[in-house]
Amino acid sequence: MATQVEPTITPDLSARSRTPEPPPLHVAVIMDGNGRWASQRGMSRNEGHRAGTENIRRIIQAFAKRGVQYLTLYAFSTENWNRPSAEVQALLAIVNEVIRSEVDELHRGGIRLRHIGRLDRLPPEMRRSICESVELTKHNSRMTVCVAFDYGGRAEIVQAVRSMIADGVRAEDVSEDLLRQYMYAGEMPDPDLIIRTSGEQRLSNFLIWQAAYAEYYTTPVLWPDFDESEVDNALDAYAGRKRRFGEVR
Ligand code: IPE
Ligand code: IPE
Ligand code: MG
Repeated sequence: MATQVEPTITPDLSARSRTPEPPPLHVAVIMDGNGRWASQRGMSRNEGHRAGTENIRRIIQAFAKRGVQYLTLYAFSTENWNRPSAEVQALLAIVNEVIRSEVDELHRGGIRLRHIGRLDRLPPEMRRSICESVELTKHNSRMTVCVAFDYGGRAEIVQAVRSMIADGVRAEDVSEDLLRQYMYAGEMPDPDLIIRTSGEQRLSNFLIWQAAYAEYYTTPVLWPDFDESEVDNALDAYAGRKRRFGEVR
């Protein structure tokens, strides 16, 4: 009689095999180096921005697969308006196009979209796309992807202070917890890991309040080349860190 062979269930270890530690709850990424990536190839900076924007899709999937719950992506800083107007216009157009083309798939994948930064200086059409995407995906729970666009950490703190004053908050009631509630995404946890591509070692006005105890990881890899194996390298580095939060452990 033939022996009945039980079907074997092969666990999908591919994504987590190199990162057995619990993943960071919140990863934030400074997506830098699009311009250098393009100039190394004799391409225009705008072609670099297109390649960089297209990379966002695979990186969202890679972090989601590894169980990261919150992913914040620095896409455009309050200082990036000072770039040549043609580059600013191209960046706005590319990002707007990508929001439109990707949102349905992100929604199907259970991704909740959020935005941090100023909306009032964006073209009305882009403002509308952002608000509609946030509204459409607001009940999703697999992972929150927060896009920092026209974001500056200093501007965020200034708007928080202004809103507190407008609400009549008394000086003695100002606390770290209250200030946090006035930030753009006050309900999100602080980033555990901040990744910066392209070798620069600075925050460039990114999450300066929330980054107080984040771990930093920088890599010379330029953003359009930052792939799934680079995600593993960053998470492996994080897994090896000892976080002390000022205590003796
Ligand atoms: C990051 O790439 C994208 C944005 C800042 C919008 P860069 O455009 O800063 O690329 P580099 O740093 O000049 O190579
Ligand atoms: C930081 O990169 C902003 C984003 C990645 C969106 P920049 O290229 O603007 O930063 P600096 O000028 O090198 O500090
Ligand atoms: Mg740069």
